[in-house]
Order: sequence, then C-alpha cells, then structure tokens
Amino acid sequence: MIEVKNLTVVFDEKIVLDDISMKIGKGEFVGILGPNGAGKTTLVKSILGLEKPVKGSVKIDGVDVDEYIKANGARIGYLPQYAIVNWNMPIRVVDAVMIEKVKPFGIFRKYSKSEMESVRYWLSVFGVEDKMYDYIKELSGGQQQRVSLARCMMHNPEILILDEPNTAIDAVYNTRLYGILKELSRKNSMTIIMVSHDIGAVTKYVDEIMCLNVKLHCHGKSGSINFSDVLKEVYGKDMEIVIHEDGCKNCAFNKDKQ
Ligand SMILES: Nc1ncnc2c1ncn2[C@@H]1O[C@H](COP(=O)(O)OP(=O)(O)OP(=O)(O)O)[C@@H](O)[C@H]1O
Ligand SMILES: [Mg+2]
Repeated sequence: MIEVKNLTVVFDEKIVLDDISMKIGKGEFVGILGPNGAGKTTLVKSILGLEKPVKGSVKIDGVDVDEYIKANGARIGYLPQYAIVNWNMPIRVVDAVMIEKVKPFGIFRKYSKSEMESVRYWLSVFGVEDKMYDYIKELSGGQQQRVSLARCMMHNPEILILDEPNTAIDAVYNTRLYGILKELSRKNSMTIIMVSHDIGAVTKYVDEIMCLNVKLHCHGKSGSINFSDVLKEVYGKDMEIVIHEDGCKNCAFNKDKQ
C-alpha cells in the first residue's frame, strides 16, 4: 500500500504540488493524467523519495519512503520520463537489460542460465526478443523504450512506476502494452502507476484514475468519473474530448485497416 498524506512540494517558492493525499492499494493499476507542468513527474518522484516535500509524507507498506527504499529498493521498478541512457554505448541489448541485475559487479561477468532466461522472457513480453544480441544503438526509439521496460522488470518489482512509457511507441504496440500492464497488475499483483497523456487508453485500461494539476482534482475508479467535467477543470474549458475506441471508423489508423 502506498499512502501519500498532505504532500506539498515547492520549487523556487512556487507550489507545484498542493496538499495531495491518496492511497494506492497492492495490485492496483493507476493512471495519472494532467497537462504539462501539472506536477505528475514531481508526484511520482516524491513517491520514490527523489523529491523532498516541504510538508506531508509518503509511506509504503506503513514505512517512510526513504526507509522503505533503503530496505527494499529493488522491489520498485522505475522508468523515468527522461532516462539518462547513452544509447551509443557499444553494448548489446542483453547487457543493457542485465545491467539492472549485475550493477555492483560490472556487466562483463558470465551470466547465469536463469538470468539469461529472465532477460529473454522480459524481452519477449515487450516484443523485442529478436533484438537480444543487437547493439543498443541499432534500435529505433520505440524499441529502445521497450528494452528499458524489460530492464525495469528484471527484479520482478512489486511496484512499477512508469512516467510516460509510451511516448515513442506506435499505436498498435501501445494497445498491447496497456494489455500487458493490466495483466501484470492482475496476475502478479503488481502495483502500477503510469503517467500518460493518452486519455482514451488510460480511461479504458486502468483501475483508478488521478487527475492532477497542482492539486488532485479527482481520484476514483475509471468508470465512476465524469470525465468531460473533470478534464475541462484540469485541462481548461477549451478542451474538446474525443476518445477513440478500438475500431473507431474515424481514426486514420483504422481506415488503413479497412
Ligand atoms: N527541479 C526543478 N526545479 C524547479 N522547478 C521544477 C523542477 N522540476 C519541476 N519543476 C517545475 O514543477 C512544475 C511541475 O513539473 P513536472 O515535471 O512535475 O510536470 P509534469 O506534470 O510531469 O509535466 P509534463 O507533462 O510536461 O511532463 C513545472 O512548473 C516545472 O517547471
Ligand atoms: Mg512529466
């Protein structure tokens, strides 16, 4: 259970998160929506103990976040919005994924059979198993993002935090990705927090939605929220909501398939 209580974060005297309180239960798949600058990244960083609030607290399983991370850091997988990765490094995909496992020892030791199976498994889950021995610089942006997702999974995290995991991912794989995440939350009881601008998909796949713009404007089951009102409140009154379902006849993508 993640419990955020009266969290307030200030940067340069500006309040970027104002008195946020929420609870996220084990195995829940939560989507965080909100416009640019709403504080989404700051919120997930605060949940990870990477930003320090001026007021309030974050607890995971009843323990203060800093203590929790010290004791159980590997139980959280985190895909940052802007990962500092040198994709020109002359290493292969297998090493890039394995780095998460072998960080303290360096990447050039011999990998065990079970480690190799684990890398292959997660690459196959994210549809890039065939790239396992390619150099990372030879991958497309979307393929690199899928490799980063596989890397997050190497410790079988109990909590997975994804900050816009789909920016470089194509529409077809995006749908698949949401399905995979939903299954991980159901079958593995993985708690997943996903920041996204993809309002249609988020409302369709996640269990709970949070709409954030400095304050938490809504938090509830995805079916229980009146989106047109809340999104207008969060994004501004000029927001026009057009949510495309799979098979929408007006989508260019679907037209191609017809
Ligand atoms: N380290 C920092 N120092 C100063 N201001 C910051 C810092 N990090 C974020 N901010 C400010 O805090 C506010 C919230 O930023 P944040 O990155 O959390 O927004 P976001 O909702 O993730 O936006 P986006 O959708 O563009 O990723 C912004 O006004 C940003 O300029
Ligand atoms: Mg952000």
